[in-house]
Amino acid sequence: MIEFLIFAAMKKVLFVCLGNICRSPAAEEVARSIAAERGLDSEFRFDSAGTYGGHSGQLPDSRMRAHARRRGYDLTHRARRISTSDFFDFDLIVTMDDSNFDDVRELAPSPETEAKVVRITDFVRQHPWATCVPDPYYEGAEGFENVLDLLEDACNGLIDSLQNQKTI
Ligand code: 4NP
Repeated sequence: MIEFLIFAAMKKVLFVCLGNICRSPAAEEVARSIAAERGLDSEFRFDSAGTYGGHSGQLPDSRMRAHARRRGYDLTHRARRISTSDFFDFDLIVTMDDSNFDDVRELAPSPETEAKVVRITDFVRQHPWATCVPDPYYEGAEGFENVLDLLEDACNGLIDSLQNQKTI
Protein backbone atom coordinates (compact mmCIF):
# COMPACT_ATOMS: atom_id res chain seq x y z
CA MET A 1 0.00 0.00 0.00
CA ILE A 2 1.35 3.35 -0.97
CA GLU A 3 0.99 5.88 1.76
CA PHE A 4 1.00 9.58 1.04
CA LEU A 5 2.59 11.65 3.74
CA ILE A 6 1.16 15.12 3.98
CA PHE A 7 3.45 17.37 5.94
CA ALA A 8 3.60 21.06 6.48
CA ALA A 9 7.12 22.29 5.79
CA MET A 10 8.07 25.44 7.66
CA LYS A 11 7.15 28.48 5.60
CA LYS A 12 9.69 31.29 5.60
CA VAL A 13 8.43 34.79 4.91
CA LEU A 14 10.51 37.96 4.56
CA PHE A 15 8.75 41.34 4.77
CA VAL A 16 10.48 44.20 2.96
CA CYS A 17 10.03 47.99 3.08
CA LEU A 18 12.43 50.88 2.40
CA GLY A 19 14.17 51.56 5.72
CA ASN A 20 13.28 48.41 7.70
CA ILE A 21 12.47 50.58 10.72
CA CYS A 22 8.68 51.12 10.36
CA ARG A 23 6.48 48.91 8.18
CA SER A 24 8.38 45.65 7.69
CA PRO A 25 9.53 45.11 11.31
CA ALA A 26 5.93 45.77 12.37
CA ALA A 27 4.68 43.29 9.74
CA GLU A 28 7.12 40.68 11.01
CA GLU A 29 5.85 40.97 14.58
CA VAL A 30 2.15 41.19 13.65
CA ALA A 31 2.52 38.01 11.57
CA ARG A 32 4.42 36.27 14.36
CA SER A 33 1.71 37.17 16.88
CA ILE A 34 -1.11 35.94 14.64
CA ALA A 35 0.71 32.64 14.02
CA ALA A 36 1.31 32.24 17.78
CA GLU A 37 -2.36 32.97 18.59
CA ARG A 38 -3.30 30.16 16.20
CA GLY A 39 -0.73 27.78 17.73
CA LEU A 40 1.29 27.76 14.50
CA ASP A 41 4.63 29.12 15.79
CA SER A 42 6.60 26.12 14.59
CA GLU A 43 5.14 26.29 11.08
CA PHE A 44 6.40 29.75 10.19
CA ARG A 45 9.54 31.82 10.27
CA PHE A 46 9.18 35.58 9.81
CA ASP A 47 11.92 38.17 9.26
CA SER A 48 12.22 41.61 7.68
CA ALA A 49 14.67 43.74 5.71
CA GLY A 50 14.90 47.04 3.83
CA THR A 51 15.97 48.02 0.32
CA TYR A 52 17.89 50.97 1.85
CA GLY A 53 20.64 50.13 4.33
CA GLY A 54 21.02 53.54 6.00
CA HIS A 55 19.33 52.44 9.23
CA SER A 56 21.16 49.11 9.53
CA GLY A 57 21.54 47.94 13.12
CA GLN A 58 18.85 50.26 14.46
CA LEU A 59 15.76 49.29 16.41
CA PRO A 60 12.44 50.21 14.76
CA ASP A 61 11.44 53.89 14.77
CA SER A 62 10.30 54.95 18.27
CA ARG A 63 6.89 56.07 16.94
CA MET A 64 6.32 52.70 15.26
CA ARG A 65 7.35 50.91 18.44
CA ALA A 66 5.00 53.02 20.58
CA HIS A 67 1.98 52.49 18.34
CA ALA A 68 2.71 48.76 18.03
CA ARG A 69 3.22 48.45 21.80
CA ARG A 70 -0.31 49.80 22.41
CA ARG A 71 -1.65 46.86 20.40
CA GLY A 72 0.55 44.38 22.25
CA TYR A 73 3.43 44.04 19.74
CA ASP A 74 6.99 44.34 21.00
CA LEU A 75 9.26 45.36 18.10
CA THR A 76 12.86 44.29 18.75
CA HIS A 77 14.12 43.67 15.19
CA ARG A 78 17.44 45.27 14.16
CA ALA A 79 17.32 46.85 10.70
CA ARG A 80 19.24 45.25 7.86
CA ARG A 81 19.42 45.56 4.11
CA ILE A 82 18.03 42.75 1.95
CA SER A 83 20.81 40.46 0.60
CA THR A 84 21.08 38.00 -2.28
CA SER A 85 20.94 35.05 0.12
CA ASP A 86 17.47 36.18 1.27
CA PHE A 87 16.10 35.25 -2.15
CA PHE A 88 17.16 31.64 -1.54
CA ASP A 89 16.50 31.48 2.23
CA PHE A 90 12.85 32.62 2.08
CA ASP A 91 9.84 31.10 0.33
CA LEU A 92 7.98 34.38 -0.01
CA ILE A 93 9.18 38.02 -0.07
CA VAL A 94 6.35 40.40 0.81
CA THR A 95 6.76 44.06 -0.15
CA MET A 96 4.86 47.09 1.18
CA ASP A 97 4.46 49.35 -1.87
CA ASP A 98 5.09 49.52 -5.63
CA SER A 99 8.50 51.04 -5.19
CA ASN A 100 9.63 48.23 -2.83
CA PHE A 101 8.10 45.68 -5.20
CA ASP A 102 10.01 47.03 -8.22
CA ASP A 103 13.28 47.46 -6.30
CA VAL A 104 13.20 43.96 -4.81
CA ARG A 105 12.32 42.33 -8.13
CA GLU A 106 15.29 44.09 -9.72
CA LEU A 107 17.59 42.66 -7.05
CA ALA A 108 16.35 39.07 -7.60
CA PRO A 109 19.21 36.87 -8.87
CA SER A 110 16.99 34.62 -11.08
CA PRO A 111 13.48 34.36 -12.55
CA GLU A 112 12.62 31.71 -9.92
CA THR A 113 13.55 33.98 -7.03
CA GLU A 114 11.86 36.98 -8.66
CA ALA A 115 8.63 34.96 -8.62
CA LYS A 116 8.79 34.85 -4.81
CA VAL A 117 8.24 38.63 -4.61
CA VAL A 118 4.64 39.72 -3.92
CA ARG A 119 2.73 42.78 -2.68
CA ILE A 120 1.30 42.65 0.85
CA THR A 121 -1.97 44.14 -0.39
CA ASP A 122 -2.58 40.90 -2.32
CA PHE A 123 -3.68 39.51 1.07
CA VAL A 124 -5.96 42.24 2.51
CA ARG A 125 -9.67 41.51 2.98
CA GLN A 126 -11.03 44.36 5.12
CA HIS A 127 -9.29 47.04 3.00
CA PRO A 128 -9.94 45.86 -0.61
CA TRP A 129 -9.23 49.36 -1.95
CA ALA A 130 -5.69 49.44 -0.50
CA THR A 131 -2.91 49.35 -3.11
CA CYS A 132 -0.01 49.67 -0.65
CA VAL A 133 0.95 50.02 3.01
CA PRO A 134 1.97 53.71 2.86
CA ASP A 135 5.30 54.90 4.25
CA PRO A 136 4.45 56.51 7.64
CA TYR A 137 7.90 58.07 8.18
CA TYR A 138 6.81 61.67 7.44
CA GLU A 139 3.25 61.18 8.73
CA GLY A 140 1.55 61.71 12.07
CA ALA A 141 -0.04 59.23 14.47
CA GLU A 142 -2.80 58.29 11.96
CA GLY A 143 -0.13 57.13 9.51
CA PHE A 144 1.25 54.63 12.02
CA GLU A 145 -2.22 53.45 13.06
CA ASN A 146 -3.13 52.98 9.38
CA VAL A 147 0.01 50.85 8.90
CA LEU A 148 -1.01 48.59 11.80
CA ASP A 149 -4.65 48.32 10.59
CA LEU A 150 -3.46 47.25 7.13
CA LEU A 151 -0.81 44.87 8.48
CA GLU A 152 -3.24 43.08 10.83
CA ASP A 153 -5.66 42.58 7.95
CA ALA A 154 -3.01 41.48 5.44
CA CYS A 155 -1.11 39.18 7.81
CA ASN A 156 -4.30 37.32 8.72
CA GLY A 157 -4.97 36.85 5.01
CA LEU A 158 -1.38 35.84 4.32
CA ILE A 159 -1.33 33.19 7.06
CA ASP A 160 -4.70 31.82 5.91
CA SER A 161 -3.36 31.58 2.38
CA LEU A 162 -0.14 29.80 3.43
CA GLN A 163 -2.01 27.44 5.75
CA ASN A 164 -4.19 26.36 2.85
CA GLN A 165 -1.12 25.32 0.82
CA LYS A 166 -0.32 21.65 1.55
CA THR A 167 2.87 19.89 0.53
CA ILE A 168 2.43 16.28 -0.59
P1 4NP B 1 9.95 52.12 6.37
O1 4NP B 1 9.91 53.71 6.63
O2 4NP B 1 10.38 51.93 4.94
O3 4NP B 1 8.57 51.69 6.62
O4 4NP B 1 10.98 51.56 7.35
C1 4NP B 1 10.98 54.56 6.34
C2 4NP B 1 12.04 54.67 7.20
C3 4NP B 1 13.10 55.52 6.92
C4 4NP B 1 13.08 56.27 5.76
C5 4NP B 1 12.02 56.16 4.88
C6 4NP B 1 10.97 55.30 5.16
N1 4NP B 1 14.14 57.17 5.48
O5 4NP B 1 14.02 57.90 4.49
O6 4NP B 1 15.12 57.19 6.19
